[in-house]
Amino acid sequence: MSYKKPKLDSKHYQDLYNALPSLEGKTIGITGTTSGTGFVAASTCGKLGANVILLNRSSERSKKAYAELIQETPNANFIQIECDLQSFDSVRKAAEEITEVCSDGLDVICNNAGVMALEDLPTEDGFDVQIQTNHLSHFLLVKLVFPLLKKAASLREEARIVNHSSIARKQPKKVLESKYLEKNGGNLGGNGSSIFFGGARWLRYNQSKLANAAFTACLHEKLQAVDSKIKAMVAHPGLAETDLQSTTVKDGGMGRWITEQMMKAGQSREDGALGILRCIADPEIMSGQFVGPGMGGMFTAMKGRAESFPLEEFYDNRFTKDLLWKKSCEAIKEDFEIS
Ligand SMILES: NC(=O)c1ccc[n+]([C@@H]2O[C@H](COP(=O)([O-])OP(=O)(O)OC[C@H]3O[C@@H](n4cnc5c(N)ncnc54)[C@H](OP(=O)(O)O)[C@@H]3O)[C@@H](O)[C@H]2O)c1
Repeated sequence: MSYKKPKLDSKHYQDLYNALPSLEGKTIGITGTTSGTGFVAASTCGKLGANVILLNRSSERSKKAYAELIQETPNANFIQIECDLQSFDSVRKAAEEITEVCSDGLDVICNNAGVMALEDLPTEDGFDVQIQTNHLSHFLLVKLVFPLLKKAASLREEARIVNHSSIARKQPKKVLESKYLEKNGGNLGGNGSSIFFGGARWLRYNQSKLANAAFTACLHEKLQAVDSKIKAMVAHPGLAETDLQSTTVKDGGMGRWITEQMMKAGQSREDGALGILRCIADPEIMSGQFVGPGMGGMFTAMKGRAESFPLEEFYDNRFTKDLLWKKSCEAIKEDFEIS
């Protein structure tokens, strides 16, 4: 059973929406648009005139979300492509389909989808469910659509890679560990659910969100080195009232009562989407920026307007970037050359 969501009003979304430019002529791929920040991003990009590729696993939720998007914005161009981030085969098939519909390139890939504090289970590829969904499959997806991003950048002066991290990137030690990026799914500490006292469900989530930030730092460095017009940026949504927590509660990763209390301090899903929306569409956001409601911890960066900040030293360092890239390439069994 899930928890009772609080009703949280959007305070800043409309201001940002009014300030964003038209996205006509752009094609934007977004993972995880069945609910939460991904749904808001898809809806917003559709309203602003973009062709929006919805990258979701097949489910009743994805059918329902598609119907809602079409109903809200009948003139928008939404393209559905199946992409299950728990499966590298599915990501490879999705990339082939994206290539078929993107003859003029892909302007933005937004790696939004995520799961939090789930059970210690392996994917069909042998990696932890959270690490593969939240990071490794997005790494593969970016690698596979990279030629399309290059094409868009050459035709329209820029393209963007947007990752979605979390306040959780800072918990508990700010150190990326190789074992989480290896084929250890189902053998990464068990099902402890204590957020603040080292519950293994949360350690895996923390590592996946640290990986999202480190991946951005790697991309930024490599893209700058070749003077690329492709930008890499990362956002976090603060504490946003989406389906993320409901899924975690149902899976046993959080208690109902504590989740209900905690979420009262959060913000709406629209305000939670401000960071990725600025990364996707705001001309002021530069490569190598982190966008969200503050860069502090649990109690200081939970809500508010999304501002831009520099990347942080605890993942933007030689050791972490080399580890992230090497282990991610090993996981997908492919090199990823940025040229
Ligand atoms: N909400 C917060 O407070 C918060 C805080 C920090 C960071 N974040 C980050 O924000 C991002 C968006 O989450 P949200 O809060 O909007 O949660 P959400 O409402 O649960 O949305 C998550 C999305 O990810 C998709 N997804 C999960 N597993 C997938 C898979 N195997 N393949 C494809 N899609 C999959 C879900 O689709 P299905 O319908 O298929 O499950 C859903 O569309 C995540 O990366 C999360 O870590 C959220």
